[in-house]
Amino acid sequence: MEVSYITLYALSLLIATTLLRRLIYFLQTRTFIKTHGCKPARNVAWTSEPFLGLDYVLECVRKARTGFYMRYLASRFTRFGNTFVTRRLTHETLHTADPENLKYMLATGFEHYNLATLRINAMTPLFGLGIFTTNGAAWSHSRAILRPSFTKQNMTPLLTMMERHFQMLFKLVPTDGSVFDVQEIFFRFTMDTATEFLMGGSTHTLDPNRKSDRERQFVNDYMNCCYEAVRQVAFGKLQFLSRTPKGIDAATKRARAYVDRFVDEALRRKEKRKALGQSEDEVEYNFLEELAAQTTNRTLLRDQVLNVLLASRDTTAALLSNMFYELARKPELYAKLRREVLSQIKGELPTEAEMGDMTYLKWCLNEALRMYPVVPGNTREAIHDTILPVGGGEDGKSPIFVKAGTPIFYNVLAMHRRKDIYGEDADEYNPDRWDGLRPGWGFLPFNGGPRVCLGQNFALTEASYVTVRMLQSFDTLSAHDDKPWMEQYSLVLCSRNGVQVAVTPAK
Ligand code: HEM
Repeated sequence: MEVSYITLYALSLLIATTLLRRLIYFLQTRTFIKTHGCKPARNVAWTSEPFLGLDYVLECVRKARTGFYMRYLASRFTRFGNTFVTRRLTHETLHTADPENLKYMLATGFEHYNLATLRINAMTPLFGLGIFTTNGAAWSHSRAILRPSFTKQNMTPLLTMMERHFQMLFKLVPTDGSVFDVQEIFFRFTMDTATEFLMGGSTHTLDPNRKSDRERQFVNDYMNCCYEAVRQVAFGKLQFLSRTPKGIDAATKRARAYVDRFVDEALRRKEKRKALGQSEDEVEYNFLEELAAQTTNRTLLRDQVLNVLLASRDTTAALLSNMFYELARKPELYAKLRREVLSQIKGELPTEAEMGDMTYLKWCLNEALRMYPVVPGNTREAIHDTILPVGGGEDGKSPIFVKAGTPIFYNVLAMHRRKDIYGEDADEYNPDRWDGLRPGWGFLPFNGGPRVCLGQNFALTEASYVTVRMLQSFDTLSAHDDKPWMEQYSLVLCSRNGVQVAVTPAK
C-alpha cells in the first residue's frame, strides 16, 4: 500500500514538473516572440499525407528520377513565396530563398544555427570528424588548422601542376570533329588535380598509362561512399528506413587506408626534417605537409583530406561543365570570351595576374554559378529557439519564430533565378548582366559567413586556368546534343546527359 502512495506521489510530481516546465517554456516563448516582433509565417504549405509528408517525399523521388528535382524544389518558391513553412502534424520545416534570411543564418546569427544532424549522421562513416561533419568547437578547430593551407597558397606551382594534367586532358580531346563528353573529362581532371594537390599523389584518371589498380579502386570506393552519404541525406527523417548497401563498409575501409598511406608518408618526412634540423619553410608546397605542421594526429589528418577532397573535386568540375554546356550552345559568347583570352595572354601559358584581369571570363563563371549553383540547396538547423528575420506577418516582412531543432532548407538555385533580383531573363545564360550587378547575399555560390568556402580562390583559379587553356587550344566549340538540360544532382549539380561537344583545333 505504501509503495502505491509513493508511486502516486512520484507520478503526480512528474506530471506537475512537466506541466510547470511547459508553462515556463510557453511564457518564455511568448516573451521571446514579443521581444523579437515575430509573426506567423505568411506562407504555409501543407502536405496531403499529414504525418511524415509522404506525398511530398514521393513527388521528390519522382522528380529526382526524371532529372527535375532541384527545379521542382525551386518552383515551390514561385508557388509559395520566398520563405514558407511546410507543415506536417509531427513536425515542420522552413524553406527560404531570401537573401536576408541567408545572411542571418550564415553570418549575423551564425551562433544560432548548426549543420543539420541528418547530414552529419550520413557523412561521418566515411568522412570522420572533419570540417564538413562537425559543428561548434570541433569545426572551429578544423577550420583553424585548414585555413593556413589556403591563405598561404602560392598559385604558381599549382598552375604548373594544372598544366601537366591539362596536357593529359588535351590528349583525350578528339581533334577530328568527333563528338565527346567534355564533362566526363573535366571530372577526371579535377580528381587528378585535387588528389595531387591534397596528398601529393595524383590518381591519374586521365592517363591510361599511369593509372594503377589501387588508384582505380580508390576512385571507385570514394565515389561509392560519397553517393551513399548523399542517399542517406536524401532519406531525411526516414533515414532509419534506409539500409547501407553491401560493400560500403569495405569500400570505406579501403578508401581510408589509401589516404592513410599518404598521411604516414607526410608524417615520416616531417620527422626526417626535424631530425635534420630543416625548417618547415624549406618544403615544397604540399597540402598534407602543411597540415602536418598544425597537427600530427593521423586520424584527423586523414579525415580532413577526405573532407577537402569532397569539397574540391566535383565542385570545380561541375562549374566548368555547366559553363561549357552554355558556351557550346552560344557560339557568339564562346567567340567573345576567346577574343578576351587571346588579347590578354602575353606568353604561352596564363599567369594568375593575367587571369585576374579577364573581366568577361569572371562574368561567364559568375553566370554559370548563378544559373547552375554547384551546391543548389543546403540545410541548417536551429540550435535553440531563434528567428529568421523575414517571412512573417501579412506582408512577409516580420521575423518568424524558429523552434530549436527546426531544419531550414535554403535554396540557392531558387534565389539565383529570382526575377526581382536578376530581371525577367533570369532563366537565360547572359554573362553581360554582371556589368555593374552587385546582388550581395542574393548571389551565394560559395556560401557566406564563417563557413564560407575555403577553396573559393583555388576553385576560381583552376576553373579559369582550364577555360583559358581550352579557349587557346580550340577555335570553336559546338554542342552536339539537342536534349533540354536535365539535372544530375547527387554531390553537385551538373548535366545528366553530360556535355556532348565537338571542337576545331586552333590554327
Ligand atoms: C566551384 C567550386 C566550388 C564551389 C561552388 C564551392 C562551394 C562551397 C559551398 C557552398 C560550401 C558550404 C557548404 C556548407 O557549409 O554546407 C563550401 C565549403 C567548403 N569548401 Fe568549397 N566550393 C568549391 C570548391 C572548393 C575547393 C576547390 C576547395 C578546396 C580546395 C573547397 C573547400 C571547401 C571547404 C574546406 C569548405 C568547408 C568550409 C567550412 O565548413 O568551414 N571548395 N564550398
